[in-house]
Amino acid sequence: MKRSDFPSDFIWGTATSAYQIEGAVHEDGRGPSIWDTFSHTPGKTRGGHTGDVACDHYHRYLTDIGLMRSLGLNAYRFSVAWPRIFPQGRGEPNPKGLAFYDRLVDALLESGLEPWLTLYHWDLPQALQDQGGWPQRDTAYAFAEYAAYLSRHLGDRVRHWITLNEPWCSAHLGYYAGVHAPGLRDLALSLQAAHHLLLAHGLAVPLIRENAPKAQVGITLNLAPGHPASPDPADVAAARRYDGFQNRWYLDPLYGFGYPPDMLELYGPASPHIRSGDLEAIATPTDFLGINYYTRAVLKHSLEAPHRFSGVRWGQAFTHMDWEVYPDGLRELLVRLAREYRPKALYITENGAAYPDVLVNGQVSDPERTRYLQAHFAAALQALREGAPLRGYFVWSLLDNFEWAEGYEKRFGLVYVDFATQARYLKDSGHWLRVFLQEEVPSA
Ligand code: FCB
Repeated sequence: MKRSDFPSDFIWGTATSAYQIEGAVHEDGRGPSIWDTFSHTPGKTRGGHTGDVACDHYHRYLTDIGLMRSLGLNAYRFSVAWPRIFPQGRGEPNPKGLAFYDRLVDALLESGLEPWLTLYHWDLPQALQDQGGWPQRDTAYAFAEYAAYLSRHLGDRVRHWITLNEPWCSAHLGYYAGVHAPGLRDLALSLQAAHHLLLAHGLAVPLIRENAPKAQVGITLNLAPGHPASPDPADVAAARRYDGFQNRWYLDPLYGFGYPPDMLELYGPASPHIRSGDLEAIATPTDFLGINYYTRAVLKHSLEAPHRFSGVRWGQAFTHMDWEVYPDGLRELLVRLAREYRPKALYITENGAAYPDVLVNGQVSDPERTRYLQAHFAAALQALREGAPLRGYFVWSLLDNFEWAEGYEKRFGLVYVDFATQARYLKDSGHWLRVFLQEEVPSA
């Protein structure tokens, strides 16, 4: 497998997100987000870690751009911290916050890196959570205002816009499982949050297009194939419910099919309130679908409400997150999406792996990560050959960073970060990617 096996205009990038790398949480007028509150609440993150300093990217972004350049990438997916732009969520914008992204975008363009901007990667302004957060319909309108403002200011230079990153995580992990900010546990709230997230996306798309007419606009979902643990019809039905919960709940309304009837039936009175016109807004056509793929799920029937499935640990190889390494799931997913939803284009907006890396004499030997990437690149190539309109691939992540509830313990970077000194070291997998992008790699 070589770079030249992929189309010549294929996008190769890395991805990050604001709260995971920027630090500088009190600087230049940034307001607090739900992740500041959550990470500062005792017991919520491993080791009590917070994003206060993270990778100090807010001050070191030029170094980080230099690293991306040296890897030979041609794009960079980052997110904007909403509370830097609107410290109170809406109302008065904060020019200093905007100025940071101005500088970042200009420096990327000067370095030949195409900026891919994500508007929302989970850092909701705390002021909006204080008014109810995503279960409140008004949050969707606040998001639309933020999207309009940002696209007015950056739309002349940013040509790729992603509205939301992984609304499943915001809604389910944040409002039902309670393991992400804001840490609530309520099924109806989480489903209402999911609906307002999708509505926020749908309201934002035409506003971004208006302000940045040449832009490509899409959304990123975290999707995973769900396989039954056995051919038993009860397990097959459990896998189908998982698919509804994880994949179809988002894909179906985005592509104009409405919420899946089997899931509405399962959720019963906890189903979201939907106003007339909402489903039309959510189904506003997009230019691409972003996919974050890490693993698949294997399911068996269980009695536990509401979903009545449980995950089974399956497979041979696992990452430090204890996620199965299953590259064929990426091929399967891409081919299925192309067939069932017919998106205009697909991008892998995140894929990568955490391993317990150690720095030895300035070097990090991480052969598992290199193998993980090689196998997933090969799976993506196979999907392309099977007709999936795949146009690009972003590795998660450029840097080791604040891995949410896992704190700094889980390292996903191509670049090792020594958090005591903020020194960066390219891991062996980063060296491999650099060589791959220069076309010197023999077949994997
Ligand atoms: C995804 C998130 C990203 C990172 C990776 C490991 O769900 O979008 O921020 O945490 O997982």
